[in-house]
Amino acid sequence: MERWRKHKFLLHGMHAEVSTRKKTFAEVQTERLDQAERTVLIKCPSKLNEKKLLQYLSSHGNVKSHFFFENRGISALIEFSEKSSIASLQDAVGIPDVSEHHVVPFKSRLFTFTLKNPVSQRMEETPLHLSPQCHIPVKDLIQKLCLADSISGQMYVLLNEHQLTEENIKLRFLACSLVRDFARAYFPDSTVKPFGSSVNTFGKLGSDVDMFLDFHDTGKHATKMKKGPFEMEYQMKRLPSERLATQRILSVIGDCLDNFGPGCVNVQKILNARCPLVKFCHQPTGFQCDLSVSNSIAIRSSELLYIYGCLDSRVRALVFTVRCWARVHGLTNSAPGTWITNFSLTMMVMFFLQKRSPPIIPTLDQLKELADEKDKHIIGGYDCSFVSDLRKIKPTKNTETLDVLLGEFFEYFGNFDFRKNSINLRKGKEVNKPESSPLYIWNPFEQDLNISKNVNQPQLEKFIAMARESAWILQKEDKTQQMINKEPWGLAALLIPFGKSNSSRMKNRMKGIGSETIKSLLDSLKLNNANSQQKAVGK
Ligand code: CTP
Ligand code: MG
Repeated sequence: MERWRKHKFLLHGMHAEVSTRKKTFAEVQTERLDQAERTVLIKCPSKLNEKKLLQYLSSHGNVKSHFFFENRGISALIEFSEKSSIASLQDAVGIPDVSEHHVVPFKSRLFTFTLKNPVSQRMEETPLHLSPQCHIPVKDLIQKLCLADSISGQMYVLLNEHQLTEENIKLRFLACSLVRDFARAYFPDSTVKPFGSSVNTFGKLGSDVDMFLDFHDTGKHATKMKKGPFEMEYQMKRLPSERLATQRILSVIGDCLDNFGPGCVNVQKILNARCPLVKFCHQPTGFQCDLSVSNSIAIRSSELLYIYGCLDSRVRALVFTVRCWARVHGLTNSAPGTWITNFSLTMMVMFFLQKRSPPIIPTLDQLKELADEKDKHIIGGYDCSFVSDLRKIKPTKNTETLDVLLGEFFEYFGNFDFRKNSINLRKGKEVNKPESSPLYIWNPFEQDLNISKNVNQPQLEKFIAMARESAWILQKEDKTQQMINKEPWGLAALLIPFGKSNSSRMKNRMKGIGSETIKSLLDSLKLNNANSQQKAVGK
């Protein structure tokens, strides 16, 4: 009973945390970008007196926040209250001797802190707290999971370990802001903004930063300002297609980053992709970055996922769990290929949550109905409108626990008719597949695109087999016995590769058994489980 109360309290706490996060996507983006503009990065010696550093910096202005992290040595992210403090710091630092170093002049926001008198400073040294920028290895996670008291509890532990920290988010926005400083050398009115998992609430520590070069803000401004009879030759040459313009812009930015970008290495231009991009490693922040040119639809899908992620605390817990599970079993891979992507998996979880009764999250059509005038977005002929104010969306009445949802997720997709049906988040319904790709997930905004077109039949089959096996493991498990035997239980058991013996057992089980038989088998197990749960409650 005590445990249950504690757990309920924990869940209540999580809901409370979510309910305070009601800012719109645009508000969060603006706030973070502004914060990043007031931020600098300082490389520090391994022995450092934190107080001295802050004291020195305070002569340039108030330091609003700061943290240290490890990335090829120790670095500090320093957020000033005022942007002017950066200019003050830049004016006060030494610049390398041009005759000795072959420098390309560029005033950056990257600094190195050197001690004049290291010996006396060492005396006052206190250990630095280093903010972790990557998550713990799976084997350590599994151990932690075994200490939780329910599968829901385990899923929140996983979420806490994997989700982006406040510090990591700041570092991601700083990386964009530093690239922006650089892009402005060519395109003075451009901005660089993050999209994808860095901002959609589903980002995991260690994931890449997707960023895009944006000229939109200036575009809006320019139309507003049109007052006189003059037309300006605006920004650049007129090119025959948007794609060509995008490729040209990325090509010069790519060269520029490669030749002169401070700390930008391994620059690769991938200009012939459907969505042309430049890949590079940003050493000062330690991120692998994908830079593209303003892709309004991808930003809308980032905002859509942001809304779903903020609506109910179960959404992110389930997504992080499913993605970790998929990675462990080799269903996803960081290299591009024929496997399911994290983005597709996230969409599959969203669809599943739309299909619960009552639904846990609304369909995209429902979110569109709640949209007002300022939420209207028509992009390339596609209606991408949906509500941005989270307060307008009614909370769900669904009270299913994550324990139930996890099992049901595996069961649902273990038995999904992928041959016939496709996944449509706009309607929240299965729809006949418009073409024969093994897995068809409608792009919510560009309705003629399949976001999982890359997935081949063997990969899909592997996913189905793993989902069935996982549903089976969750149904048959005897938690108490497993805890007594000190065996991994619940989610921990699902994060251990099923292994050879396991997979051949699974094949035998699947051989010749129709999905109906499996379903009834699982149903009977569920009934047993429900009975024993009822007994426990009755006690
Ligand atoms: N995107 C899309 N259609 C695709 C792939 C990607 O619209 N077929 C958009 C989505 O908005 C996605 C973003 O591009 O969020 C970035 O793609 P990607 O990096 O593949 O996915 P993330 O969501 O960032 O997930 P991850 O953490 O794995 O990088
Ligand atoms: Mg990404």
